[in-house]
Amino acid sequence: MTYDDPRLAVLYDVDNPDGPDHDFFRRFADDLGAKDIVDLGCGTGLLTITLVKPGRTVMGIDPAPAMLERAVTRPGGEAVNWVLGASDVLTPCTADLIIMSGNVAMHIIGDDWHTTLVAVARALRPYGRFVFEARNPAARAWTRWNDPLAERDTPVGKLRESVTTEPPDINGVVLMHCHNEFLDDGDVLDVEQPLQFRDRAQIEADLAAVGLGTLHVWSDWAGTSFGDTEAEPLMVFEAALPS
Ligand SMILES: C[S@@+](CC[C@H](N)C(=O)[O-])C[C@H]1O[C@@H](n2cnc3c(N)ncnc32)[C@H](O)[C@@H]1O
Repeated sequence: MTYDDPRLAVLYDVDNPDGPDHDFFRRFADDLGAKDIVDLGCGTGLLTITLVKPGRTVMGIDPAPAMLERAVTRPGGEAVNWVLGASDVLTPCTADLIIMSGNVAMHIIGDDWHTTLVAVARALRPYGRFVFEARNPAARAWTRWNDPLAERDTPVGKLRESVTTEPPDINGVVLMHCHNEFLDDGDVLDVEQPLQFRDRAQIEADLAAVGLGTLHVWSDWAGTSFGDTEAEPLMVFEAALPS
């Protein structure tokens, strides 16, 4: 588990504030008129709590205790049904909308990906939607993630950090090595984060294998169609059961 330290959960929020991606998911939920939403891989719940509305249920699921603990204690968190776990806790035919924001799809490695998609397809109601983003492997984002040692002040104290990456293996899994030195108390936390890159064709095939059709693939949060070029780093998928 990568996000298993409360300090990393705090840093996650500092580095990943609310933005156009969250606006997109909120707008999508409203346009769909979603009454029962699941935020799978909800992390610290920053987006999750903003999905709460009268007449709507929101469930936030995450397997990382430190992330979920931060979500549960967030102001407004009492309005969300938080569950520690992963796709195994989804209930059949209960969700209008399942989202996975913040590239959760890339955190789900190997066979877990298929297992997750099976559970998602089962959990959706017939008119439900599954919406998530992933990075386009053709844009080779990992080549820009290598950061030399640097220091910054954070809410959890002075931090010295660096990131190095290994190029994708045969399955598209990129390994990130994240080095964190908490200078105030001398703690060192070295984290290895695997991220699986899948291209559009692969993801559409994986969705189809569990009976989910791809309705749209966008290349940004404003609804521009994805053209499958290396100049488009982002892929946003909307999938559904056949009508
Ligand atoms: C980059 S964070 C994204 C968090 C949040 N969705 C957001 O938008 O900020 C990735 C999250 O995926 C979670 N995760 C890892 N493996 C998972 C799995 N198999 N199923 C669901 N979530 C998973 C991690 O615990 C982590 O909180």
